[in-house]
Amino acid sequence: MEELYVAKSSELGEGERKLIKHGGLEIGVLRANGRLRAILNVCPHQGGPVCEGMMIHRVEEIIGAGHEYRGMRYTDDLHLVCPWHGWEFLIETGRCAGDGAKSLRVFPVQERDGAIYVVV
Ligand code: FES
Repeated sequence: MEELYVAKSSELGEGERKLIKHGGLEIGVLRANGRLRAILNVCPHQGGPVCEGMMIHRVEEIIGAGHEYRGMRYTDDLHLVCPWHGWEFLIETGRCAGDGAKSLRVFPVQERDGAIYVVV
């Protein structure tokens, strides 16, 4: 295992991201909902640059007590949307929202002494 320097903590604010390269890997490091994530920049669908996609809040349907449809609302969960075909992934786990069998490859990420590191 190898620890890679990513950036100073102050350089990666909420909702920001940075791509780093190591060997043949490209890894996106992003801060979302106050937590850091490190994700391989390869979508499990067809290899798109998933870490360059939008981060959006998950949408859920509101169902009333009588099982009637009451519209939709945004949740606190964030999704990462692949820019090629729109597959969405839960940033918290890397799991695909539409197919739980598919997942992003994630790496341990650490923040200490004002700096961010990824372990590969
Ligand atoms: S390559 Fe990511 S959705 Fe198709």
